[in-house]
Amino acid sequence: MTDYFLCKPGDIPEGEGRAFQAGERVVAVFHANGRFHAMANKCLHRGASMCDGAIADGGSTIRCPWHNWTFDLETGRNVIDPREALRKFQVRVEDGQVILSA
Ligand code: FES
Repeated sequence: MTDYFLCKPGDIPEGEGRAFQAGERVVAVFHANGRFHAMANKCLHRGASMCDGAIADGGSTIRCPWHNWTFDLETGRNVIDPREALRKFQVRVEDGQVILSA
């Protein structure tokens, strides 16, 4: 497991997402209801960048910008078909930094 220092918390405004390179991967990090969530950035449907999606359902889901597939921010699971899930990553705020473990 490697820690990646991504940004300062204020660099991802509440209600938005940003994409970060973490080693070989591109990870989307979302700021919703004061918490940060990280998951694979590539939508399982046709590969849209999830970081450009809309946080919905009171901050509990992320909706793909292309065709609206919606994933739970806590679990990464598709809300319609939970067998489909975006890979989740651990993310935390420590010493004024957003840190991803992957
Ligand atoms: S590419 Fe995400 S729903 Fe189609």
